[in-house]
Amino acid sequence: MDKIFADNILQGKVAFVTGGGTGITGGVARAFAEHGAKLAIVSRKIENLEAMKAEVEAFGGECFTVAADVREYEAVENAIKQTVDHYGKIDIVVNGAAGNFLCAADQLSPNGFGTVVDIDTKGTFNVCRASFEALKESKGQILNISATLHYLATPMQIHVSAAKAGVDAITRNLSVEWGRHGIRVNGIAPGPIEDTEGMKRLLMPELKDKLVKKIPIGRFGRIADIENAALFLTSDAASYVNGVTLVVDGGSWLLGTSLM
Ligand code: HXC
Repeated sequence: MDKIFADNILQGKVAFVTGGGTGITGGVARAFAEHGAKLAIVSRKIENLEAMKAEVEAFGGECFTVAADVREYEAVENAIKQTVDHYGKIDIVVNGAAGNFLCAADQLSPNGFGTVVDIDTKGTFNVCRASFEALKESKGQILNISATLHYLATPMQIHVSAAKAGVDAITRNLSVEWGRHGIRVNGIAPGPIEDTEGMKRLLMPELKDKLVKKIPIGRFGRIADIENAALFLTSDAASYVNGVTLVVDGGSWLLGTSLM
């Protein structure tokens, strides 16, 4: 897709992106680098990050990789420290690491529920908390990747719905508490986005054609749609936008278009 924004809108910024090796957040990380940012990408397994590092370096970008499980505060703190040691600062934090699978509530184990809440909600808090001093210093910002599952109700997704509702609460609370320190905190709630791990896991192929007909814009989202929303929110164009979770779903949730 042709670039919409100027090449240099994130020039000189350092972006720390969890889940930045693959999927939607991988696209966001790459788009940041294409617009001038230096990247630190984080995943549980370093091998999940190698392809993105190679891709970014191939177009002349900088990409530092760190292995950390966002559920473990010490590991997160260490990843933030390594990034600050490497680049000297952090300007943008993206919380994209997430877990998901389909499971009916009456089949879901407490540990299954807790695992997704730990990755999505506690992981988001851990990364925000550990990066506070660096963001206060840079007058930086946080972007939390959420979902629309919890706006109505999505069967087989009680764990993710609860987890993402918590992420949205974190976005709003921190925007108020940390806005005073010059830190903006926003989110993006993607709708059904094609070619993602989430969609592969959640959507049976035979339901795809049925679902697309229900999307008001008439197509599935693309990772580029989320990249563009992320570029807008993290750029100076959005310098007065704080505490917002921007829905990028073609209008799907308003129609109650469930994935099930
Ligand atoms: C039921 C499951 C399960 C499944 C795991 N569990 N998978 N329960 N159905 N398919 C349960 C396990 O039985 C266990 O509980 C508990 O969860 C922990 O499982 P582990 O495998 O030990 O955990 P872990 O290795 O930490 O892996 C967690 C994971 C993760 C959540 C399963 O591997 C994962 O999600 N990976 C996928 C990443 C992904 O898809 N990211 C994109 C997210 S998309 P017990 O009780 O047995 O101990 C997204 C967007 C949502 O978030 C919106 C879409 C529209």
